[in-house]
Amino acid sequence: MSKIIALAGKGGVGKTTVSALALRYLAKTGASPVLAVDADPNSNLGETLGMDVTKTVGDVREDFMRDPQGVPSGMDKIVYIEMLMNQIIIETQAFDLLVMGRQEGQGCYCMVNNILNRFTEQLSKNYKYLLVDNEAGMEHLSRRTSGKVDMLLLVTDYALRGLRAVARIKEMLGGLKLAVTNIGLVVNRAPEELGSVFLAEAEKIDIPIVCKIPEDKALLEFDMERKSLIDLPDDSPAVVAVDAMMKDMLAK
Ligand SMILES: Nc1ncnc2c1ncn2[C@@H]1O[C@H](COP(=O)(O)OP(=O)(O)O)[C@@H](O)[C@H]1O
Ligand SMILES: [Mg+2]
Repeated sequence: MSKIIALAGKGGVGKTTVSALALRYLAKTGASPVLAVDADPNSNLGETLGMDVTKTVGDVREDFMRDPQGVPSGMDKIVYIEMLMNQIIIETQAFDLLVMGRQEGQGCYCMVNNILNRFTEQLSKNYKYLLVDNEAGMEHLSRRTSGKVDMLLLVTDYALRGLRAVARIKEMLGGLKLAVTNIGLVVNRAPEELGSVFLAEAEKIDIPIVCKIPEDKALLEFDMERKSLIDLPDDSPAVVAVDAMMKDMLAK
């Protein structure tokens, strides 16, 4: 069964960056096959990895809903939708990427959503690792009626607002039919020593800190130059931090 790593947290705290660095680690250590899922409608995981994303699951859904009769004659609609889905998976040597894209508009999407869910469910079985970069509200994870996550990484920046968002996500988890095996707190843009107020607040949330990522100038430079984070040097501070976390986590 594939191992599912999911990331969540407030917008802008570094989920996509940590996702990209986790994928970098999996790629460098030869863990494969890996499926990266960008589940944030304001998505940019592909961009961070230097990939051109042209179509999303949301596009497949909208295209089909706009013209449900557009299924080629003689072809079953499930087969048709699955064919469209297979076309939007971006494959690279190191991993594959599936971008969820926008949520549905108005109308009844149950049928197409069921087909899409079944497809992604089946698809994920082909991979050893699944890494899901979620949006702040975890819509994608929370909508699934059941499921499991082996490692849930809740990302915060070094700010109380980020931590409070983590606390809300943790509370929400109680109401979901989601089996989470391990949960860890990732503190991004962390100073060398976390201050006592931050630590006290983190303690209340009661999630172990599994990674502290310092401010890393190289990230800004790579962002500006649209370079893939996969190509960051091994000794870049953010890479060092995420590598150590991944190594620990996968040893469990
Ligand atoms: N440790 C860090 N050092 C420097 N810049 C960072 C760091 N982490 C994230 N960033 C930058 O902050 C911005 C937001 O990060 P991002 O990963 O897109 O957040 P999210 O996915 O949570 O919205 C990006 O431009 C990213 O390059
Ligand atoms: Mg993001």
